[in-house]
Amino acid sequence: MKTKHKARTARTKPNGSFHYNPALARPRTGQRAAEIQAFGTIVKLPNGLSETVCRASVERLNQLLADTLTLRDLYKKHHWQVAGATFYQLHLLFDKHQDAQADLIDQIAERIQILGGLSYAMAADIAENTNIPRPPKGREEVPVQISRLLTAHEIILQQARAAARNAASLGDDGTNDLLVSGVIRTNELQVWFLAEHLVDTPQVIAQ
Ligand SMILES: [Fe+2]
Repeated sequence: MKTKHKARTARTKPNGSFHYNPALARPRTGQRAAEIQAFGTIVKLPNGLSETVCRASVERLNQLLADTLTLRDLYKKHHWQVAGATFYQLHLLFDKHQDAQADLIDQIAERIQILGGLSYAMAADIAENTNIPRPPKGREEVPVQISRLLTAHEIILQQARAAARNAASLGDDGTNDLLVSGVIRTNELQVWFLAEHLVDTPQVIAQ
């Protein structure tokens, strides 16, 4: 209050001249305060859904978010570390799938916020909560990379279908729509593209 008063008087001298006040341009850095919403709580919004329904959807969406963030990172790891004769096509394919997963991540996280919840955001929280097995830091062969990705997709698909059914039964049609037309369809498509790489067909001479 004192600072504001000083600033006001410094700018409105009776003679009409203006005086430079460095305090007005100083960034107030290092600020901390109590959270305005605790994780796990729901802020009721006027969306026609009960707090109980929103909480149920938020919990399932957060699990899917943690697993989708992990799958996105698994795609990047394999995009960088892929090796061998199919390097170029898999390098591009892994990044394409990663982009689609990143789009889903934003939609899932924002759906959580739309329901009045709080989404996971930071890597440490994702690592603590994902259901997808952690890969080694080192480089693995292409069939192993693809197998890991398929395992991750299947975990997500099983959860997404259960969550979609749950959302539909609770009347949360928006969440059901996101899960069915976004998460499930995208993951199913990516499973197809990956799995076909693990079919051992002859390259030159038919068997
Ligand atoms: Fe890249």
